[in-house]
Amino acid sequence: MAYDLSAANETLLEFERLVREGKTAPWSGNLKVGVDLGTANIVVAVVDEENRPVAGMTTPSRVVRDGIVVDYVGAVSAVTRMKRELEERLGCTLERAATAIPPGILAGNVRCIANVIEGAGFEVSNVIDEPTAAATVLGIDSGAVVDVGGGTTGISVLKDGAVEFTGDEPTGGTHMTLVLAGFHHCTTDEAEEMKKDPKQESNVFPVVRPVVEKMASIVSRYLRSHPTDAIYVVGGACCFTQFESVFEKNIGIPTYKPEVPLLVTPLGIAMNA
Ligand SMILES: Nc1ncnc2c1ncn2[C@@H]1O[C@H](COP(=O)(O)OP(=O)(O)OP(=O)(O)O)[C@@H](O)[C@H]1O
Ligand SMILES: [Mg+2]
Repeated sequence: MAYDLSAANETLLEFERLVREGKTAPWSGNLKVGVDLGTANIVVAVVDEENRPVAGMTTPSRVVRDGIVVDYVGAVSAVTRMKRELEERLGCTLERAATAIPPGILAGNVRCIANVIEGAGFEVSNVIDEPTAAATVLGIDSGAVVDVGGGTTGISVLKDGAVEFTGDEPTGGTHMTLVLAGFHHCTTDEAEEMKKDPKQESNVFPVVRPVVEKMASIVSRYLRSHPTDAIYVVGGACCFTQFESVFEKNIGIPTYKPEVPLLVTPLGIAMNA
């Protein structure tokens, strides 16, 4: 039986609308805040006590690479700006925030990520792992969560609500952009734009398909020693319409993709705050 993502999708589409329109939704009780410092995007998500999306903001960013803060001052100023803007929209201050770390990150880098959040004026309520954040939004307690971000692909196997195994590979959307730029002899900025344009997907996907197949073979290798019966793909680089079918065909395990895969982990961080 196909896993039903409809409740998760409804929540994600509502969160996406709030982010896109710069709006807030009515809320009850205390607000929970999550900050996702990604390689490609910084996202701040706000939900209420019932885990309903209340507000959110996303900013393209180059201050973090694969979970490592490469521009501390830039990161603090970006998060500070986003905090201020959201507080203005909400008409209240946001004091505490949770953040997340990709699977397999070292302790020193965790501290550094927390320092950015604190530098922006938040008290860090907790630091959770990214797959757990995604699983909360998806409403799952078992299966493999594959987060294909800008710089890395994180693989996590969950069983009965616990993270049983995590792996991390240096491949993601940036790699797809490089392949596309090489193919078209254009700059990476041009390739990035082309890649994200839905109108160009039928020309783009055949070029980046080998990258997706390579990712699938990596995931498949991990899952051989950690068998599971469902794969959930999240992260911006799995936006392509055919992404999950390439995974499913190459790995042989049913693969599901929620709506707005870019926002799953950030929203889940707020839900776990
Ligand atoms: N519509 C789209 N089609 C294809 N790729 C996309 C699309 N939108 C975003 N991307 C890609 O998704 C990647 C960003 O995804 P995401 O925001 O999940 O990464 P991140 O969390 O910032 O990075 P990481 O998790 O690696 O630190 C970028 O490489 C971007 O080019
Ligand atoms: Mg990410």
